[in-house]
Amino acid sequence: MVSCLAAGSVEPPLGVEPLLGVEAVVLVGGLGTRMRPLTLSAPKPMLPTAGVPFLTHLLGRIRAAGVRHVVLGTSYRAEVFATHFGNGAALGLKLDYVVEEQPLGTGGGIRNVASALTEPDVLVFNGDVLSGLDPAEVMRTHRKAGADVTLHLVRVPDPRAFGCVPTTADGQVLGFLEKTDDPPTDLINAGCYAFRREVIDSIPEGRAVSVERETFPGLLAAGAQVHAHVDSSYWLDLGTPAAYVQGSADLVRGLAPSPALPGPVGEALLLPGASVHPDARVGGGSVVGAGTVVQRGAQVLGSVLMDRAQVGPGAHVQRSVLGVGAHVGAGAVLHDAVVGDGAVVGARCELLNGLRVWPGVVLPDNGVRFSADV
Ligand code: GDD
Ligand code: MG
Repeated sequence: MVSCLAAGSVEPPLGVEPLLGVEAVVLVGGLGTRMRPLTLSAPKPMLPTAGVPFLTHLLGRIRAAGVRHVVLGTSYRAEVFATHFGNGAALGLKLDYVVEEQPLGTGGGIRNVASALTEPDVLVFNGDVLSGLDPAEVMRTHRKAGADVTLHLVRVPDPRAFGCVPTTADGQVLGFLEKTDDPPTDLINAGCYAFRREVIDSIPEGRAVSVERETFPGLLAAGAQVHAHVDSSYWLDLGTPAAYVQGSADLVRGLAPSPALPGPVGEALLLPGASVHPDARVGGGSVVGAGTVVQRGAQVLGSVLMDRAQVGPGAHVQRSVLGVGAHVGAGAVLHDAVVGDGAVVGARCELLNGLRVWPGVVLPDNGVRFSADV
């Protein structure tokens, strides 16, 4: 069940043709509120995902498309990004950082990095999307259509949580309805855009702007050419703990492609110094962090165990997240649960249905149960 992958640094792909005249912006300034408590200690794009900070997968994909210069639009916990990625050389990129003292929203964040951009075409990415898209394809569609802005769109079963984007049959965008209760189509904004540089300069400066609620509807009202690039490859917004564990497991199992996965795909990813008892079962795309211990008879499925965590004997951990240094006691059951850094879940506790334990909280043995039998 367990296949061991060695975690290492990401090699820049060899022989990738540069995508000339194009640079990229990644928006990473959000608070990650729906991911709390995990985002109390790290911004959402920096959460460990299949062995590396999530953003590494996105940057690897951008690099593989031939883009060399990436500007990160940061705000919340801005320092964490530069500390980890530095100048980007390890990824084969030139990375720049522009900080918003106060979050300026998605449109304000794009406008705020304009002074760091030099090329005529710009690919903009939401920093929390895992996808199989080749961003170079969006740029090809954009250039072929001679558009002002081109939006990557995907179809989802429930569009209400996203930006809903009706189009004509030949790919012209007709409207942009952010998080509407009554979506007219299942096509949604997938969080990757190609912008003509002048359009970025036309976004108002120095105040908060939502690209979804202000810029796109404004461009459409003004008769700008807004085009669609519809794609059907893997796509997931890692905005909730459930999506985060799903995305991590899909990366480990190879269902979501990434040039940054630190090893071959498999049922589990064991980081250096992880220890799994021979009588334990670890699978379903789980990650076992550095120094993390899974004890005898435990079952860990489709879960993210961050570094220095412990899973006690006979515990069951399914589709759950254990923060750094979190402990789960013997016989405890976790389904769709999040345990914050350093928290302790006592023996035989049962945490189900999206329950979140805040960092450092200690639940005593038998302290939280769903069932009546102890
Ligand atoms: N720099 C900066 N400043 N970045 C920000 C700010 C800000 O003030 N606010 C949000 N971001 C970044 C987040 O870090 C994230 O990477 C990205 O912008 C999108 O923000 P989310 O908070 O994740 O938005 P969402 O998921 O609810 O909706 C967005 O993404 C959907 C697709 O995943 C919208 O663009 C929807 O239209 C879209 O369908
Ligand atoms: Mg999101």
